[in-house]
Amino acid sequence: MSLIALLPGDGIGPEVIAQARRVLEALSLDLSFEEAPVGGAAYLEKGHPLPPETLALAKRADAVLFGAVGDPRFDAVERAFRPEQAILGLRRELGLFANLRPAKLFPGLEDASALKPEVAGAIDMVIVRELNGDVYFGEKGRRTTMDGLRQGYDLMSYNEREVERIARVGFETARVRKKRLCSVDKANVLETSQLWRDVVKSVATEYPDVHLTHMYVDNAAMQLVRNPGQFDVIVTGNLFGDILSDQASMCAGSIGMLPSAALDTGKKGLYEPIHGSAPDIAGQGKANPCATILSAAMMLRYSLDDEVSAERIERAVAGALTAGVRTPDLGGTATTAEMADAVLARLA
Ligand code: NAI
Ligand code: MG
Repeated sequence: MSLIALLPGDGIGPEVIAQARRVLEALSLDLSFEEAPVGGAAYLEKGHPLPPETLALAKRADAVLFGAVGDPRFDAVERAFRPEQAILGLRRELGLFANLRPAKLFPGLEDASALKPEVAGAIDMVIVRELNGDVYFGEKGRRTTMDGLRQGYDLMSYNEREVERIARVGFETARVRKKRLCSVDKANVLETSQLWRDVVKSVATEYPDVHLTHMYVDNAAMQLVRNPGQFDVIVTGNLFGDILSDQASMCAGSIGMLPSAALDTGKKGLYEPIHGSAPDIAGQGKANPCATILSAAMMLRYSLDDEVSAERIERAVAGALTAGVRTPDLGGTATTAEMADAVLARLA
């Protein structure tokens, strides 16, 4: 029996988590569910966005399925108590260093993509982004130069252990897909990237079945728009991955379609839609639950090693969309529950 921690959070979080739970329950797997408050909801109930009981549940569970946090009512509270601190705290406390963001255009959504239909249709990739290092976490500050100019700086650095563990996630991800891994860096000008490239090459010797290529990040940004179908798995650092994954996500039609995973060195993971709490549509039954349902599929794939069930969910989502069932963000009229009903009906 695997324990799934459900952390619904704020806004549309509880609405989409409820639908993902229905889909997981319909699969009749050996799962148990425990819910706990997080974000603004937890602040109201327990006085903290990430209460100790919620963190303890997340640590005890085999995987965490997370909705979204954020509530405009708490915009004025002190930083440490803001709802968004919950997700940062969970990443840190659970040691989640690898962020996986698949970008795939589901059939029938070609008109919703930012790219030409024939180009968009070929998109099916996973971006593996390092989440705990790089310029975001290096030494940073402000100083005044010798000639009296104000200067800001952020140190870019990776050590070989950090690169090695994210490279492994990249190779493992590619191994169960099309076995093509593209490591993205800027090794022509950055020392950090030269170390990155050396380490990725040495890890590659353990994965002779995976075809490894290297690409400079500026070229990668161009290729993502020109010919995204060439990519299977991309592995890259925190900064490049942040930018490239947002760029890739625009190709998939709606923010309500995109799932994500944050993984540790073992099997533990936190799975969440890439969208936020969408206060503008909360409580109206308008939220697209697909991103969360697809996050549940990722959870089965990566934390529970259940590729078969993951694919069942993904096929059911594709089937519902092909049949024309769409929430308002995709130009349709289906409610959150009706969208999930259509997925449930196709769980063959
Ligand atoms: P957002 O992603 O919540 O919403 C952006 C736009 O997309 C809105 O118009 C919203 O209605 C729409 N949208 C989002 N998800 C949708 C869905 N499933 N179906 C249909 N439409 C959807 O981003 P925003 O407005 O910048 O942030 C709102 C709150 O969410 C903020 O407090 C922010 O900090 C928080 N947030 C939390 C995240 C998390 O929990 N990991 C991630 C991003 C934002
Ligand atoms: Mg971003």
